[in-house]
Order: sequence, then C-alpha cells, then structure tokens
Amino acid sequence: MRYFEYRDGTLHAEEVNLAALAQEVGTPFYCYSGAALRHHYETFAAAMPKGSLIAYSVKANGNLAILRQLARLGCGADIVSGGELKKALAAGIPPTRIVYSGVGKTVGEMTRALTAGILQFNVESEAELEALNNVALSLGTRAPVAIRVNPDVDARTHAKITTGTKQSKFGISWNRAHQVYARAARLDGIRIVGIDCHIGSQIVELAPFEAAFTRIIALTRDLRAEGLPITSIDFGGGLGVAYRADNAPPAEPSAYGAMIAALTRSLEAQLIFEPGRRLVAEAGILVARVIYIKETETKRFAILDAGMNDLLRPALYDAYHEILPLNGPKAGTTVYDVVGPVCETADLFAHERSLPELKAGDLVAILTAGAYGAVMASSYNARPPAAEVLVEAKDWAIIRGRADEDALVQQDQLPPWLEN
Ligand code: LLP
Repeated sequence: MRYFEYRDGTLHAEEVNLAALAQEVGTPFYCYSGAALRHHYETFAAAMPKGSLIAYSVKANGNLAILRQLARLGCGADIVSGGELKKALAAGIPPTRIVYSGVGKTVGEMTRALTAGILQFNVESEAELEALNNVALSLGTRAPVAIRVNPDVDARTHAKITTGTKQSKFGISWNRAHQVYARAARLDGIRIVGIDCHIGSQIVELAPFEAAFTRIIALTRDLRAEGLPITSIDFGGGLGVAYRADNAPPAEPSAYGAMIAALTRSLEAQLIFEPGRRLVAEAGILVARVIYIKETETKRFAILDAGMNDLLRPALYDAYHEILPLNGPKAGTTVYDVVGPVCETADLFAHERSLPELKAGDLVAILTAGAYGAVMASSYNARPPAAEVLVEAKDWAIIRGRADEDALVQQDQLPPWLEN
C-alpha cells in the first residue's frame, strides 16, 4: 500500500501523519488518499478498451468529494437511486455519463433521471419497462434503455454479493431476454440502446466474468441479427481487491481489460464499465482508538471506538480487513479478537488475529475500507458515524464531519400527546 505507509515509525496517508490527524479530528475517522483514488481510476481506465465509459458505481462510496475528484478525471457514474442521481450531478458528473441500475426505480426517480438527460436506464424487469415507458410518454420523450440480462453464471464470491444466477432478484432471466427486447421494441416511450449485466462483487478470478461476457456478447449478436439496435454493452462492475496479503492476488485490470478486448474485437459497440470497489477500496482506511484491552478466561479482546455501525462488512459478510497499529511497523505476536463497542456479538472486526501488543489509547488502522465502508454506516446504538477525511499530499480536509449526538436527538420528533 504505497499511499498508506510507515514513515518515521508512524503510519502516514501520503504525507500526513495519521496519529497527528487523529489528535485533530478525533477517532474514529475514515481517511482517503486522493493520490490512491486517482491511481486506481487511471489504472482501471487505461486498461479498458479505448473509448470505454467508466461509470463509477456510486454505491461503493458516495461522498461528494470522492465523486468530484472522479468527475475531474472524466469518470461517469452508475447510480441506483434518486439520491445518488442528485449526488452525481452535484459532484459535476455530466448526465450523459450516468447509467441508472437497480430493481426498484420509482416513477418519481425515473422522471427525474429522464428529465436530467441520463445516458441510459438499465432495466431490470418487465414491470419496470412498462413504468418507464409510461413516464417517457407522459414527458413526450423516449427513454434510452439497456436490458440487464442475467447470464446465469455463478460469480464464485460471497453469497450475499452474487447477483448473476437464476435465484437472484437482479436482471431479466436469460431465457426471457429475447421476448423482453421484442416487447421493448414495440413501446413508443422506449428507445433500445444496449445490453447490460452485472454478476456480483469482489470477484477475484477472470473465469466467471469471461463466461458471463461470452454469453452476453453472443446474445448481442443474436439481438442485432433480429434487427435490434444494441449499440452499447455494459459489463457491470465486480472486479475484486486484495483484502488479505496471503490470498491469491485478484485479477488485475490489465488482464480483465485484455480479456474484454479479445471478446469484443470484432464488435462495434460503446463499452461501459461500472467499477466500484476497485476504484475506492484501497484508497481508504478507518482509523480507530483502542478503548480497553479486556482479558477473559478464553480471549483477549481489543475494544475499539469504531464499531459495526461504522464499518459493517465484517459483521455482514465475515469480511477480512487487515489491521495495523499506527505505531510501527511491528510484527504481530499477541492474539486478539478486535471488537467494537456496539451491543452485538457480530460487532467483531477480527477474529483471533495476531497483532503487535496493543494497549488502551493506541491507534489502529483498518485497511481497505474505502469501499462499502462509510456508505454503509448507521447510527445504531445512537452512535454518530465516523467522520471522513480526504488527504492530498500534505493537505487534508474533513469531507464529512461527525454528526453530533444532539443532531441524533433532534432528528426524532415527539408526537403532540407525548410532548409534555
Ligand atoms: N453495478 C451494479 C449493478 C452493482 O450492483 C454493483 C454492486 C456494482 C456495479 C459495483 O460492484 P463493485 O465493482 O463494487 O464490485 N456491500 C458489499 C458489496 C455490494 C455490491 C453491490 N453491487 C460489500 O461490502 O462487499
């Protein structure tokens, strides 16, 4: 991790001393490296075939500062809600670079997206197709549509983040694709522009992608032969990152891009990609302080001031995140369960992890936390979620302050009969 490195015995984000930063902003906080974000975007974009649209999947990290930085690099957006539409536009991402995915787009959301002039709707059901047709007709226009087809390929990732099999709620089933396209072609409010797929997330091998894309490309050729104007192919996101140094390294964007170039060689099409995790995961860490060390008959717990309300991935997916002490580097010799303060057994960041000896007051960094970290935070246990900080060389800025407890109290309202 070049962007988060030990210098003079302390972990730094670029040129910023994280222990000093913790003193200023308080813990816990997410810290992102602007240089890392640029590096991951540029590496990904350069590896895709020329002319591809990179539509960053906003759900991975929707902070306005992250979106603005990506917008400046020419990145587009893959959105899944009216809220993400608002954020992407506010960050300066042109509507013509926005694709809209998701199984539950409401009429209100579709109206706003169509009025904004987005590039395409990735339609996930026949009911949605009808609803979008009606929205477009009422606005006197045609909605640009790609049908999300479910290639029925197992992404071989965690069950909670696989999306491309028959059992999944996502996309149109493989066997119905032709009928749905034929229906779309008959609707006056729909303009067919492309095809779309997304088979899952944190996929570390190329094989599932290759199997899915081969099917999607074959279907594209068939649909074109039927006279349907499929001009764009959206391959979704899903390329994984290395959460553990001792696992086989995930496929690199270069290999992924080469595979796609080979598959699409004889095909004229606007290619679209929706990477999320790959652009932001390694660009962020979560910094927390050890509140207590607690020893029981069977365990030694390091209790942090960050909890599952700040970073849900370990609790929800048994996800592994490396943990480093801010003072170091030091080798691990003591075994800890690293936990948060939330009143749930699932509030566990690391199970029986060998770490350098920790004591109360020490600072630690939970790595690879830039994707699906802050965005999935909540105020469970009435805990204001962690602040977010963006670093640029030796500068830093708070890009989301910690909500205070008063705000948590004020967001609730008493009904008149309980006021006094
Ligand atoms: N496109 C679509 C339609 C998606 O549903 C997703 C992610 C992406 C793109 C971006 O996938 P990525 O490149 O980030 O893998 N919270 C989970 C991940 C959920 C992913 C949902 N969809 C986690 O923390 O692992």
